[in-house]
Amino acid sequence: MTRVITYGTFDLFHEGHYRLLQRAKALGDYLIVGVTTEAYDKARGKLNVVDSLSTRMENVKKSGFADEIIIEEAAGQKFNDIKKYHIDIFTVGSDWVGSFDYLSDYCKVVYLERTKNISSTMLREKNSRIQRIGIIGTGRIAGRFIPEAKLVSGISTQGVYNPHAESAARFAEKWEINGYTDLEEFYEAIDAVYIASPHETHYGYIKSALEHGKHVLCEKPMVLKRAEAKEAFAYAREHGLVLFEGIKTAFCPGFSKLLGIACSGTIGSIRNVEACFTKLERPESRELTDRVYGGSFIELGSYVMLPILKLLGKEYEDIRFDTIKGENGLDIFTKVSMKYPAGIATATCGLGVKSEGRLLIAGTKGYIVAEAPWWKTAYFEVHYENPGEVEKHSEIFLGDGLRYEISDFLSTINGINSSEFKLTRGESVALAGMMEEFMRGREEDNCGWVSR
Ligand code: CTP
Repeated sequence: MTRVITYGTFDLFHEGHYRLLQRAKALGDYLIVGVTTEAYDKARGKLNVVDSLSTRMENVKKSGFADEIIIEEAAGQKFNDIKKYHIDIFTVGSDWVGSFDYLSDYCKVVYLERTKNISSTMLREKNSRIQRIGIIGTGRIAGRFIPEAKLVSGISTQGVYNPHAESAARFAEKWEINGYTDLEEFYEAIDAVYIASPHETHYGYIKSALEHGKHVLCEKPMVLKRAEAKEAFAYAREHGLVLFEGIKTAFCPGFSKLLGIACSGTIGSIRNVEACFTKLERPESRELTDRVYGGSFIELGSYVMLPILKLLGKEYEDIRFDTIKGENGLDIFTKVSMKYPAGIATATCGLGVKSEGRLLIAGTKGYIVAEAPWWKTAYFEVHYENPGEVEKHSEIFLGDGLRYEISDFLSTINGINSSEFKLTRGESVALAGMMEEFMRGREEDNCGWVSR
């Protein structure tokens, strides 16, 4: 009996898939088909897959050619599968010619002619109109957005807006997009905006973009007042628009995996979360000189508060801010201590004091630790009472990591699958509330203060 194996995503099952499976089956007597998991596809940069794993497996089954369907969840699995399932022939489409020659030491490798003029990518683009996105702001982060957005199919960066003509023109020329200084003209040309302007301008731009019927992805901190966040989300919801706060950690595959494991009960009930992120900035940087919107907490607070809100919730009983201020009164280091009915948390961030950046989640049965840069989660460990028992988890974090939030923003706009749960409206509102409390306390006191 000749045993054949093939792999694929098989998204939006099409004729190309059918013909590939038909010919794969004809190569032998028994066909095994490996279907990729969502996490594996994301990790290898295949974003925006529409069908769920179960639908894709069901469609492969319906083709009638597969004798067995398995799940492909990691790079390097193919080699093991070939051994495990006693495979004689490995086959894939001709778009992969050469990529799997290394397997020919273990079985025969056959590349089948790919069916012309059809692919899942084509179907995804046909089914959902390309979303034209415009960027507001021309700073560093705006420049990072463009190459990341290019990796997400179904989105095209149309232009950039900056009221200063020279900045708009310079940025537009560099990235070969259109530059706008007239907001109305800019909105006419786009379907969605990415707001990467200075913090204090976010609220005004969010409002005007939503009022022009545009979906909004806004850099963190989205707004600095609870009421503003609430109002913006309510308006977006009422008008069927998507509004996302862009905290990249919330959308990256590694952080989702970490949360999943933390909440699975493996470390018991979560009782303590400690998150620290420090990044030394030059004293003359905007972050350390903008007397109102600069400082450690406003700059980095969204990252360190995120795991706390996700794991312990928004209903804290007590919050205390302790800060070390620089000469100009801005916090160069801030420690937030929170009390929950059944747990405690500390969030630490600094632009002028360096510390060990770490995320630590302690539970009644064990703890999870992720070292810096845990905010680009790629690796973490689960520890138990027995120091010899350690589970190590890694996940790919590609490039600047903005591709994950862009891809989730797009699939939510297209109504394919909502990723809102990764950073809920309530969590964004709570974050805005904390920024507000922090700013109010900063006005009133010198170093430590307690809110609520
Ligand atoms: N395939 C094929 N002919 C096509 C499309 C796919 O023979 N027109 C083959 C691929 O070569 C692969 C299998 O079908 O062996 C599964 O491919 P998959 O990557 O799931 O499909 P694509 O349509 O190529 O998906 P995408 O556009 O997302 O890359």
